[in-house]
Amino acid sequence: FSLKKYNTFGIEASAKQFVAVHSIDELKTVLQENKNEKKFILGGGSNMLLTKDIDALVIHIDLKGKKISKEDDDFVWVESQAGEVWHDFVLWTIDHNFGGLENMSLIPGNVGTTPVQNIGAYGAEIKDTFVSCEAINIATQEIKTFTNNECNFGYRESIFKNEVKDQYIITSVIFKLTKRNHKINTSYGDILAELAKNNITEPTLKDVSNAVIAIRQSKLPDPKELGNSGSFFKNPIVLKSDFEKIHQKFPEMKYYEVSETEVKVPAGWLIEQAGFKGKRFGDAGVHKNQALVLVNYGNATGQEILAVSKEVQKTVFETFGIQIEAEVNVI
Ligand code: EPU
Repeated sequence: FSLKKYNTFGIEASAKQFVAVHSIDELKTVLQENKNEKKFILGGGSNMLLTKDIDALVIHIDLKGKKISKEDDDFVWVESQAGEVWHDFVLWTIDHNFGGLENMSLIPGNVGTTPVQNIGAYGAEIKDTFVSCEAINIATQEIKTFTNNECNFGYRESIFKNEVKDQYIITSVIFKLTKRNHKINTSYGDILAELAKNNITEPTLKDVSNAVIAIRQSKLPDPKELGNSGSFFKNPIVLKSDFEKIHQKFPEMKYYEVSETEVKVPAGWLIEQAGFKGKRFGDAGVHKNQALVLVNYGNATGQEILAVSKEVQKTVFETFGIQIEAEVNVI
């Protein structure tokens, strides 16, 4: 079974077996009937690089549906099933004038995988509006609720990448969104600039969403046209004491303070300075507008993309002494 259509990198890889599940009952049955099989859980396929065939039963989570599960005068609790397409869900919340997700417009992938790496963009992360998620234990089929606190969210991190990695399948997520007094967040400079272009001074949720969509479309390749998984690397967090030494050598280096002792450095800047922006190696390459994104020009293999990523990591380390880590799941 070919997985090419099921990963946004557009990598040709095959699965030993494949099943799509459309309800919790179906999912439970598949898990029970395949207790001793190796299993591989597939959501939107937007954050992984397949470097080999999958010698397992691939379970594609295709649970659909969204609803208002609770509301008061100010807030609404919206529940989405894991298989909903994230961006469609965001647009639906904006159409209902529910605020909180607009800065995360146009992020590829499905709702169910958003908590795994605490997706974020343009000044917002899902941990800011996430209430809880339901997940099914793969071994026991028990359903467990994980609250925001229990998810141990961090920068592109959660319990699902760490303590309970590969143990649960997220089946639905609840977000708490505003019905009025929206907290419009234009702290990310690019958004203000984009709004200014259209002479918007008091942006609505829709305006912010449109601005984010325009910025993303100008920098980030559309996976439908050019295979990619968004940022391939995380922005490295460096100790201030180390950073100061590096900064003396590279005074033009960009950085953001993240705590009293640490700064975050944009990996896109490091990769660009290391000379990789727009570079192509066969069908694998580094995107021309955003060096943090690796792309598949057509028939690259996962191994070829992985090789480019290693070369990038090596050169960035040799140039700046900074280790950059993959954000994408390498399989
Ligand atoms: N930069 C460069 N060259 C590049 C790319 C970036 O010099 O080729 C510089 C920019 O000039 C800017 C800084 O790096 O000063 C930051 O760039 P940008 O605003 O594009 O954001 P980023 O840090 O590269 C992160 C997220 C993106 C998210 C944007 C906007 C990570 C790993 N990536 O990228 O998330 O959309 O911020 O919030 O944190 C994703 O995770 O897949 C993703 C696209």
